Formats: sequence, structure tokens, C-alpha cells
Amino acid sequence: MSAEVIAVNGGKWGDEGKGKIVDYFAQSADVVIRAQGGDNAGHTIKNGNGKFVLHQVPSGIFNPDCLNIIGTGTVFNPVSFINEIANLQEKGIDASNIRISSRAALVLPVHIIEDKLREKQRGNGGIGTTNRGIGPSYTDRTSRDGLSVADINDLDTFMGKLKPLLKRKRDSYPDAENQELHTDYYEDLRGQWFLELEEYITDSQALIIKYLRHDSKIVIEGAQGTLLDKDYGTLPYVTSSSTTIGGLLQGAGIPPSALTQAIGVFKAYDSRVGNGGFPTELKGEEGDRLRELGQEYGATTNRPRRVGWFDGVAALYSSQLNGYTDIALTRLDTLSEFGEAQINYSYFLNGEPTGIFPANNNYTLERCIPCNISKFEMKDISWVRKFKDLPSEAQFYCNRISQITGTRLSLIGVGEGREDLIII
Ligand code: IMP
Ligand code: MG
Repeated sequence: MSAEVIAVNGGKWGDEGKGKIVDYFAQSADVVIRAQGGDNAGHTIKNGNGKFVLHQVPSGIFNPDCLNIIGTGTVFNPVSFINEIANLQEKGIDASNIRISSRAALVLPVHIIEDKLREKQRGNGGIGTTNRGIGPSYTDRTSRDGLSVADINDLDTFMGKLKPLLKRKRDSYPDAENQELHTDYYEDLRGQWFLELEEYITDSQALIIKYLRHDSKIVIEGAQGTLLDKDYGTLPYVTSSSTTIGGLLQGAGIPPSALTQAIGVFKAYDSRVGNGGFPTELKGEEGDRLRELGQEYGATTNRPRRVGWFDGVAALYSSQLNGYTDIALTRLDTLSEFGEAQINYSYFLNGEPTGIFPANNNYTLERCIPCNISKFEMKDISWVRKFKDLPSEAQFYCNRISQITGTRLSLIGVGEGREDLIII
């Protein structure tokens, strides 16, 4: 026997309900590793302890026997992490089972300033980032100028790396007057972070290798979604990390050959926060009604999410790219309250139908019109906890999604709570 390794990511633009699915697997997991992203993520979980929105803390935190690793591929924000665990502790959740990879990149207060300045420069609404400094922090990681979590441990190293970094930023934004651009701002802050975080910071790779050797159950948790991937997503309206299953393995520090299950979480309808193409978007009253029923407001920024029908072309692209073994479909209950569902199997582009998701160019996606559409009538399913009890149209809808993606459907979310799951 060897370790069981389950990677879970979002199939579309994030907010598919990954938190709920990871929470399900985490109940029997030894380790949950958050692989990429930072506190731009908002994973909503409702269980016996209450309702929580997690940003950096992995969704295994509610299982006291599970270790939770904030992985090397993440960008770690000490300020928001300290707040997040204080909130958890206030609600009686033990946070001692968290480890932070010493190799992870740091998000510094200056990155948040920079994120806002860059968005302003882009004009016209920009990318619509969460303003959490995610892009600038990953940029500094890639250019090899940024700080790592480990640097918190030593004042001289920290300041030695920070000084030239801040100098470069001041040169780039000569008109900016924020105190976050100056070293003084960080002197006390670094010491405070060290006191609060020392117990959590560790060489997570050494830990992970030990777990892999001991036939453990390891869950890798993604953030955002496949179509926000920095290489394969709808550029430039994407996040700055690798959100695919391949990216998750890299970020978590798990060798690809160890993977046993790749789970794609899709929502029964689509949503997107921030700008960028969205061919199946529902605008006007219908969109407003779906948004209200699903309470589709950003868990991190509280922005209203754009909502639309399930895009079959994007779903196929995503499942082929990720190589899913299983799909989890969430929020079928919301769609059944809405009363209707639609799936498109192709787009109309330049006067012709196509089944191909456009490459690397959001402006092409903006011109795609959904076509070859099936409609489904959705009836009340609030009482259903077995697949065979679903109304026939809902079964048909689920099977269609499985057929389009060529992937078996293993879990269906029919409500907010931990028990509101159909397991197939
Ligand atoms: P950033 O990750 O803050 O740089 O934002 C880049 C894009 O990703 C924007 O469109 C955000 O709205 C989107 N985004 C970032 N994190 C999430 C998330 O957790 N869920 C959904 N969208 C996200
Ligand atoms: Mg979210």
C-alpha cells in the first residue's frame, strides 16, 4: 500500500465550493496542504462548528487529527493570517495543527499598495484583482527579489532583502507616499510576526515526505480555479499562480507520481468575480435572481459575482487540462430553486460553431456566443440525498455534465451543510 493523495481544484473561475468538498475529504485525512494562492481565496465551510470563511488556513482545520500545511506554492500574508487564526480561536477552533512552509513567498504590506497602484495604471477597471498583493508578491518570487517566510526568523536577513526591494519599488512609483514603501514600517512588524508565527514555520517538505512514506491520506487543496490559471486561463484576467492539478502538485511539494485522485469541483451554474470574458453570463433580472438565490457575493471582497449557465465548452477544456478522475458538482439545490438549467456544447465564433475553448486571448472569448444548447427543467431537490431519488431531469443534467467532461461524477452538493452531499 502507498499513500492516498487527492488533489481538489476548481474547474472554472473559482467559487465552485471547493471548501465544502475539501472539508468532506478532510474528515478522514491526515494532512491537508494548501497548494497555491493566498488570502485572495475565500473558502466557505458550514459544519457542526458553525459557518466559516477561510482565506489562508487549509480546510482541514476542523479535523483535530489533521495537519494543515500552508504550502510552498502559496504567497503568505502574515498580517491576515494572524487575524484569521485569532478569529478561529475566538470560535473555539484549535489552530495549533497548522504549519507554514518556510519556502513560501511572503506578501508584504508594500505588495498590497503595489497591487492597487498597478490596477489604477491598467485603467478601464483593470483586472479586478482582490487587492491582496497576490500578483506583486508572485512577481517578486519569479524575479528572485522577494522574501520567503523563513526570512521572518532573522532580522538581518529580513532587512537585508527588504531594503533593496523597497528601493526598487520607490523608484517605480516615485509619486507614492505610503509608509509601507519605507523600511521603518517593518522593523517592529517583523518582530511581532516572528513572535506570533515562529511555532508554525517549518520545512514542510521534510514533513510531507514522512507522510508519503507512511501511507497517509493527503488532500491537496487548490484556490481560485482552472480558468484563472496564469498560463491556461483567460489572460490577462487571471490570478498569478498555477491553479491546475499540475500546478497544485508543484505548489504542494508532492511528486506527480504519488497522485491517486484528481477531483474537479464544478458548480451547477457558472460564476466569475472580476473582469474578463464569460460567454454564458446571465445579465439583467435572471442573473440578479440567480445571484440572490445562490448568495453569490465574493467571500473575500464581498463583490457581487457575475453568474451564468454551465459552460460545456469550458468544462471540457478544463477537465482535459486537469486530467480529472472525478467531478464534484455543487449547488444543484440553488439551480433547482431557480427552476431551470442550460448547457451549451459549443460556441459560435466568426460565423462558425466551435467546440474549442479559445487559446490565451480573452478578447476571443468575449466574442464567443454559446450555441448547441440543452435546457432542463429543475424541480425541488431539497429533500434528496440519493442520486436515484433526484428528479429525472436533474439526473439527466448531472449525467450530461459527466458525459461532456468524460469524467465520472462522484459527489453532488445539495445544500450548505456537511451532510448535504450525495455520494455516488
Ligand atoms: P488576484 O488573485 O487578487 O490577483 O485577482 C485576479 C483575478 O482572480 C480577479 O478576477 C479576482 O476576482 C480573481 N480571484 C482571485 N481569487 C479568487 C477567488 O478565490 N475566487 C474567485 N476569483 C478570484
Ligand atoms: Mg471563493
